Amino acid sequence: MKTFQTSVTKTFGILTSGGDCPGLNAAIRGVCRAAITRYNMKVIGFAEGYRGLIKGECRELHLEDFTGILTQGGTILGASREKPFKAQPNVNTSKVEQDKVLAIKENYRKLGLDCIVTLGGNGTHRTAYNLAMEGLNVLGLPKTIDNDIMGTDRSFGFNSALAIATDAIDRLHSTAQSHSRVMVIELMGNKAGWLALYAGVASGGDVILIPEIPYDIKNIARHLDERTKQGKSFSIVVVAEGALSVAEERMDKKDRKKYRAETVNPSIGYRVAREIEAETGMETRATVLGYVQRGGIPSATDRILATSFGTAAAELLARGEYGRMVALAGNDITSVPLSIPAEKIKNIPRDHHMIDTALSMGTCFGNKE
Ligand code: F6P
Repeated sequence: MKTFQTSVTKTFGILTSGGDCPGLNAAIRGVCRAAITRYNMKVIGFAEGYRGLIKGECRELHLEDFTGILTQGGTILGASREKPFKAQPNVNTSKVEQDKVLAIKENYRKLGLDCIVTLGGNGTHRTAYNLAMEGLNVLGLPKTIDNDIMGTDRSFGFNSALAIATDAIDRLHSTAQSHSRVMVIELMGNKAGWLALYAGVASGGDVILIPEIPYDIKNIARHLDERTKQGKSFSIVVVAEGALSVAEERMDKKDRKKYRAETVNPSIGYRVAREIEAETGMETRATVLGYVQRGGIPSATDRILATSFGTAAAELLARGEYGRMVALAGNDITSVPLSIPAEKIKNIPRDHHMIDTALSMGTCFGNKE
């Protein structure tokens, strides 16, 4: 049986940063319960991500704070997209940034922290890495429905969002069939298309559009026409928020931004629906699932993953192994240096088995037929 060194009396701060997702509370509970009950640590919870850390808005958390939160959506700490190292528009950036970082360091010192545990996505881990470079002890836990964090096979939140998105697409199927329509559903995933790809496969999407594979509307139209010829009266098109056309991919950043501002109205799902209708003449409707994907109770899988990440983080804290993000590698919980998630986002590789699985099912990615 494992024995624990209960005399370790460290103090750590914890915060949830970036967009929320199911499983954040389970992860908070996982880290804090393990750290308090096994290692007798003291926990300071910061309000609204890095904003609380900058402003010193915090309170000590006790075991009672974690009762009943395992199943709750959102985060008991609150979240924000505050990025202390990123310039704010129209502000003397470097001074503002310097002041924020100084404030963080000062709060870290004043509160006697041994480490800050950050729960977040790509931006959060970039900031965590930068804080580590500034000499603070930092640990990360990967959360996001986008599953686009480098260094881990999964982030918690993804599995819950996948279930919500799959259920939504299943429901679109019956109404698509009744009206013989093309149904476009837009899912979150601005830079990576994991959610659209997995939900598309889970619900038998006929077309899946993801940022990693630029689409040509003519290819989509050909695919839909072919389905009609086969006697299929309706089609489901799953579109990731960051999907883009071949023409857009060829544009430079500035032109693409301008073009998207003009055409992505009110969002990409609607543009794709308009393009399909214009190209095929088929009656087409768009649905944007939006924040429903991020809300509500976490799935059992996410609760388990978040709790496991939490207890692994408590172990790292106890051992003083800082500057790392806990991660899933296959079936194992492990950790990687913060420099890995900080470096770049995790896109879907073109040779990913799920792309091949979708292709085997006859799904069109809009790139070719
Ligand atoms: O957290 C990731 C994400 O869900 C992205 O898929 C989406 O682009 C983004 O959040 C939108 O979040 P917000 O409007 O809260 O910034």
